[in-house]
Amino acid sequence: MVTNTPTASDKVVEFNNVSLGYGSVTVLEGINASVTPGQVVALMGGSGSGKTTLLRAITGQIKAQKGQVVAFGKNLANAKGEPLRELRQRMGVLFQQGALFTDLNVFENVAFPLREHENLSESEITSRVLDKLDAVGLRAAAHLEVSEISGGMARRVALARAIILEPELILYDEPFAGLDPVSLGITAQLIRDLTNRLNCASVLITHDVHESFAIVDQVYMVGGGRLIASGSPQDLLDSQDPLVQQFINGKPDGPIAFNYPESETFKNWLAAREKQ
Ligand SMILES: Nc1ncnc2c1ncn2[C@@H]1O[C@H](COP(=O)(O)OP(=O)(O)OP(=O)(O)O)[C@@H](O)[C@H]1O
Ligand SMILES: [Mg+2]
Repeated sequence: MVTNTPTASDKVVEFNNVSLGYGSVTVLEGINASVTPGQVVALMGGSGSGKTTLLRAITGQIKAQKGQVVAFGKNLANAKGEPLRELRQRMGVLFQQGALFTDLNVFENVAFPLREHENLSESEITSRVLDKLDAVGLRAAAHLEVSEISGGMARRVALARAIILEPELILYDEPFAGLDPVSLGITAQLIRDLTNRLNCASVLITHDVHESFAIVDQVYMVGGGRLIASGSPQDLLDSQDPLVQQFINGKPDGPIAFNYPESETFKNWLAAREKQ
């Protein structure tokens, strides 16, 4: 297995003492993290801990409440309009629901970003699209309609579409959700291979400790509004921290709460409902 260790230079993404949230609510604070070219990085943590929020900060969909989020050397706090669009063009994003266009076939779904962003001949488009479909094992499914492919195949098509512009950074929100064990293993290996082949960086949100630890270089684990652990998969496996242990071993009892915490807003809402 080829893995890559971080170097101090040329960071793709950097979080410097970052706080993130929505409106006046802070979801995460004191986040320090970085991603370098060639790395596969996992973001882990319980439901609602702020993993998707971290991805939104990388794409500039939300701004840091405190600290700095830097992508490709640019502080995202100051990026808007055309410069932000240019930064985003260097990123490929696979959302939690990798929605395909149902009125386009597999080929046209993958071709879509090329047609939007580049001025290529039809034969160049054909060769680029078939090359990416080949990378996800679906070259011979190019002609199929979206309604004719399975959920796991749809995810791989969405992956081919996310990499068609050969991004320097690929963000995956739960790429393994709903996949059978074989497809899961294949998808994990695919993410590793694509990262090596494109020499891009990959950031993936996952709950799957076993498969992700086999392919990632670095893990960041969030919980309780902060970063609770970071390091190589081996560092996390060796950690004595009960939060880390509970997450890795999937234990129901431990410091990670299952219940969403009760806020004043919730209590007021419930009191008003009960009066009805
Ligand atoms: N658009 C939003 N406006 C307000 N609060 C939000 C918004 N999106 C998320 N949140 C809140 O931020 C917190 C973190 O949400 P986030 O989606 O980042 O969690 P997550 O770790 O990705 O969870 P999951 O594993 O369930 O996808 C949650 O408490 C959620 O309620
Ligand atoms: Mg999420």
